[in-house]
Amino acid sequence: MFDEIADRYDLVNRIASFGLDRGWRTRTARALALVPGNRVLDLATGTGDLAIAIARREPGATVLGVDPSQRMLALAARKVAAARLEERITFVAGVAEDLPFRDGELDAASMAFGIRNVVDRPRALAEIARVLRPGARVAILELGEPRSRLARLHVHSIVPRIGAVASSEGSYRYLSSSIAAFPPPPEFEAMLTAAGLVPLEVAPLALGAATLFLARARR
Ligand SMILES: C[S@@+](CC[C@H](N)C(=O)[O-])C[C@H]1O[C@@H](n2cnc3c(N)ncnc32)[C@H](O)[C@@H]1O
Repeated sequence: MFDEIADRYDLVNRIASFGLDRGWRTRTARALALVPGNRVLDLATGTGDLAIAIARREPGATVLGVDPSQRMLALAARKVAAARLEERITFVAGVAEDLPFRDGELDAASMAFGIRNVVDRPRALAEIARVLRPGARVAILELGEPRSRLARLHVHSIVPRIGAVASSEGSYRYLSSSIAAFPPPPEFEAMLTAAGLVPLEVAPLALGAATLFLARARR
């Protein structure tokens, strides 16, 4: 599905979020509190916007972007080259449930608008906990059911229409149903804990249309 929508993905994101998605990614990158030399895992990296925001936030860090969609990764590689960040951002095809990294080898992990799409979420969260060094931060940004009625109308009626016109109808209907099916923040925090992570903060953004979950690996 993501191969199919890749070419218009960034455009639909910008329009559907009124450009807010950029600021949310900047905030996610900042929440990782990186220092020079850090190796950061960006899961479900897609077209690479969060990987790029992270590399810009900490010029001494390197980023590994993981995603199963070859088309998304091809677009990400193009953007990284245009930003002249290819020395510091590397992409790997793969899924969050089975990471090709050693235990404790990474200094931080991020995932923007990705965990909702992961089939086996407990396994993906356990994999994140496994590959992080003790105390390392994890920032997970995800869409949720907005609190305001107007925002819910936007997510469930208007965004699927924008998606249908600009990209693919089915995929953006899926967006609406997957948002409705995603667990509410306290339930997702419990999943983080069960996976061996320590929740630090839950920050609602844009009246709950998105949430930033911040956690750390156990020491
Ligand atoms: C909505 S996009 C998010 C892209 C990007 N993180 C962003 O901020 O725009 C979701 C991405 O999750 C990827 N994805 C789907 N299943 C996945 C899995 N099991 N593990 C990792 N990534 C997955 C898709 O290929 C897609 O690129």
